[in-house]
Amino acid sequence: MSLPFSRLRLLRRSFLVSLVGMAIYAGVSPTASAADTPPVQRHIGIIGAGQVGGTLGRLWARAGYQVMFSSRHPDQLQDVVAGAGPNARAGSVDQAIAFGDVIVLAVPYKAEPALARQYGQALKGKILIDADNAYPFRDGAIAAEAHAAGVARYSARLFPGTRFVRAFNSVNASTLSDGGGGTTEVLYSYTDDAAGAVAAELIRVTGSVPVRGHDL
Ligand SMILES: NC(=O)c1ccc[n+]([C@@H]2O[C@H](COP(=O)([O-])OP(=O)(O)OC[C@H]3O[C@@H](n4cnc5c(N)ncnc54)[C@H](OP(=O)(O)O)[C@@H]3O)[C@@H](O)[C@H]2O)c1
Repeated sequence: MSLPFSRLRLLRRSFLVSLVGMAIYAGVSPTASAADTPPVQRHIGIIGAGQVGGTLGRLWARAGYQVMFSSRHPDQLQDVVAGAGPNARAGSVDQAIAFGDVIVLAVPYKAEPALARQYGQALKGKILIDADNAYPFRDGAIAAEAHAAGVARYSARLFPGTRFVRAFNSVNASTLSDGGGGTTEVLYSYTDDAAGAVAAELIRVTGSVPVRGHDL
């Protein structure tokens, strides 16, 4: 027995509404749930688990990537880890760098030179996504220096030998927090085409649209 076309359309719509409803009930945006099995399984180490690092890590972990959050106080990151689900854990900065093939910097800009001195060697060869912005009121003299040189270029020079990408600095963390809704544009610039492609993939997974910025 075949169903009339209008009834079939109604059934199909109810099915789609149920799927979206289940995703919302699970606290996962439809964009994130669609990527539950990411195209490539990546390990992402996040340095700085505040508004930016915490938000990105949660979206990526929920999309199926393996994430390690870090900060100077990894023992205080239980809530961040719990919010991100079973694909997330916390560790020291050393551990996050060893864990990740992609590393995200999400700290106040003034911390970058010391991080570069301490971890520069361990970061060589890794994709390093820098989300940091430089503000004189918070970061002091280094912010003016970075702006004079171009912030992205200044940071890239701090971390030689990394596959450096600048991304997510152009968008407020609260805009990303529930997924970008498929329309939020996220600028990214890179030093290596393959690293740029990975950054674009990770931007899409947050529900946003990658928009290539100027060359580094
Ligand atoms: N908030 C936004 O909407 C937004 C948007 C775009 C770009 N940004 C930029 O992204 C960066 C992070 O901003 P945020 O708002 O996420 O800051 P936040 O909420 O204050 O978080 C900063 C994180 O960095 C950690 N941290 C600070 N110094 C560190 C160090 N030396 N080594 C390791 N971890 C360190 C902090 O934890 P501990 O103190 O425990 O180490 C904290 O987890 C900033 O450069 C900001 O300008 C922010």
